[in-house]
Amino acid sequence: MNNMSVTYKIFRGTPEGRIFAAETTQALGHNQVFIETLLSGLCGTDQHHLRHGAVWDANCVYPIPDELDSVSAAPLMCAGATVWSVLTRFRICPKDRVGVMGKGGLGHLAIKLAAAMGCEVVTLSGSESKRQEAIKFGASEYHVFSSGSPPSKDFKPLKHLLLCGNVDVDYSSLLPLIDSCGSVHPLTATFEPSGIPTLQFAFKGIRIQGSHVASRDDIRSLLEFAVQKKIVPNVITFPLTIDGIEGAMQTLRDGNMRYRGVLVRKGLEV
Ligand SMILES: NC(=O)c1ccc[n+]([C@@H]2O[C@H](COP(=O)([O-])OP(=O)(O)OC[C@H]3O[C@@H](n4cnc5c(N)ncnc54)[C@H](OP(=O)(O)O)[C@@H]3O)[C@@H](O)[C@H]2O)c1
Repeated sequence: MNNMSVTYKIFRGTPEGRIFAAETTQALGHNQVFIETLLSGLCGTDQHHLRHGAVWDANCVYPIPDELDSVSAAPLMCAGATVWSVLTRFRICPKDRVGVMGKGGLGHLAIKLAAAMGCEVVTLSGSESKRQEAIKFGASEYHVFSSGSPPSKDFKPLKHLLLCGNVDVDYSSLLPLIDSCGSVHPLTATFEPSGIPTLQFAFKGIRIQGSHVASRDDIRSLLEFAVQKKIVPNVITFPLTIDGIEGAMQTLRDGNMRYRGVLVRKGLEV
């Protein structure tokens, strides 16, 4: 690195699905800083963004509290921030009955954070396999639920439902899950339009609430809350190398990530 530019390693994907390492050089503009990436949380959308550093405006960076180790901070700053901004921006209160559908990177942190906020957390998952961990993370109830099917007869409606799964849902089948004047928070990134029965949602007063990307204030308050409540993401670490990235992506695609992959630069392994 000289005074004006920085060179660092990046990992690129090919259309055939291979990964190769390259170098990039970036000029540092006024008030920009180079942040070296020592660890990186991995989610499905990260396939084209893995690198050993990034250039940022100095006003857009923030410190990680000393009490938080970097492996835990990485998923909090991505998946955690996404669910935290929903939990804190839209009048979700302690004691509210909050559903979390899809228990992956986002979902497991939504359970931990909402439980720590004092909410009654209800997990809806596609299989039985994650029941015990959901309860350990703070959920009061766990239901196996498939989109398109009715809930169990004794299901008590939710005040808020966070959609944290990887695939779009049948919105008609959400109606019996949500209380009158409740809210649905879709976080799933899908490119196809969703068929929403607007009339039934309107008659029940249910709000479908989008959420913007987390702000620096959101992330700062999340990191403070995580320290205070000792919220630690469940992670599997992989080396930040081509083999490590491929292994992590395969684990994610196979549905075996518990619950967030973190890529770690050599020498920092835990
Ligand atoms: N920063 C972020 O990470 C971020 C931010 C905004 C939005 N998103 C979007 O939010 C969604 C969830 O992200 P994530 O990182 O939490 O994903 P993830 O770790 O892969 O978890 C997704 C969960 O979806 C459920 N699922 C249901 N049907 C599935 C299927 N056919 N294949 C695989 N999983 C299925 C599974 O939960 P169960 O086993 O409990 O059913 C799975 O654990 C994605 O669409 C993502 O693009 C992510």
